[in-house]
Amino acid sequence: MIEIPTKIANLRLKNPTILASGIMDEDAGSMIRIFKSGAGAIVTKSIGLKPREGYPNPSVIELECGLLNAMGLPNPGIEEFKSEVIKLKKSKVTVIGSIFGSNSKEFTVLGTKMQDAGVNALELNMSCPHAKGYGLEIGSDQKIVEKITTNVKSSVSIPVFVKISPNLTDIPKIAQSAEKGGADAIVAINTVKAMKIDIETQRPILSNKIGGYSGKAIKPIGIRCVYEIYKKVNIPIIGVGGINTGEDAIEYMMAGASAVQIGSAIYSRDIYVFEKICKEIKNWMKTNNYKKIDELIGVANL
Ligand code: DHB
Repeated sequence: MIEIPTKIANLRLKNPTILASGIMDEDAGSMIRIFKSGAGAIVTKSIGLKPREGYPNPSVIELECGLLNAMGLPNPGIEEFKSEVIKLKKSKVTVIGSIFGSNSKEFTVLGTKMQDAGVNALELNMSCPHAKGYGLEIGSDQKIVEKITTNVKSSVSIPVFVKISPNLTDIPKIAQSAEKGGADAIVAINTVKAMKIDIETQRPILSNKIGGYSGKAIKPIGIRCVYEIYKKVNIPIIGVGGINTGEDAIEYMMAGASAVQIGSAIYSRDIYVFEKICKEIKNWMKTNNYKKIDELIGVANL
C-alpha cells in the first residue's frame, strides 16, 4: 500500500485519494472494500433525515466520455444509515459523512447525528444538480450557504467540508461564503447539469430528464473551478471531476487542490484505481524531482 500522508484541516489521510460521494458508498461492505483497496478516505452517499426512494429508472447511463445520472438522492435516512457508519469505524475506515437537507436546521441535525455515529468529517452537499428543494436552490445562495455552514460548524467538532456546484455564475463567491461560515475545506466540483435525448423515441433518456454529468469530460471544468476558487479562499480545496490518472490528480493539485476525490474512474479503471493513482503520482514526482505533495499545490496558479 502506497503511503502519501496528507492532512486536510485536522483530518489525517494515508494518501490524498478519496472516494467521491455517490459511487459504491451506500453500504459498509463496499466502502470497507474500497478503503482496503487503497483509498485515503471514503465519502458516503448523501444522507438525509428520512428514507428516499429516488427517481425511477433509467437513473444512470454511460455516455461517450462519462456517466450521466439523476438518482434523486436515494438513501435509507440517517437513523438507518448510522449502523453502516458504526461498521465502518469498527474496520478503522476514515469516513466523511455526506449530508443533504433543505435548510440549516436539517443540516445541523444530520451533522450532529453523523458525528455521533462516528464519522471523521462532514461533507455538506449543497450542490445536487436536480433534486428540488435540496441542491442548487440552497447552494447558489451566498447567505444560505454561509448560514448552513455556520450553524453546522457550531454544532459539531469534526472538520466540515462544503461541496460546491459548477452550475453557478460565480463559483468563488459561494466558496467564500462557505469559508466565512467557518468551512474547513471546499470540495469542488459536483456533477455538471446535462441531458441525453434518444433520437428514436424523441425523448430524454433519464426518467428525471435532466441529470448530472461526471467522468473524463468534466475534468477541464473542475480544473477551472479549483483554479478560480484557489485565488479567493484560504482554506484547502479538495478537487473532484474526471480524475482517472495520477497526472489528472497532479493537474488538480497544480490548480490548487490539496487532495482529490475519485468516482467514475472506478468504472473506467477498477476499484484499485486509488492505489494506481497514488503510484502514478509518486512516479511522476520522482521523475520531476518533487519530494512533497505540498510543493505541487497551486504552482500553476500565479
Ligand atoms: C445525486 C446527485 C448528485 O450530483 C448529488 O450531489 C447528490 C445526489 C443523486 O441523484 O442522488
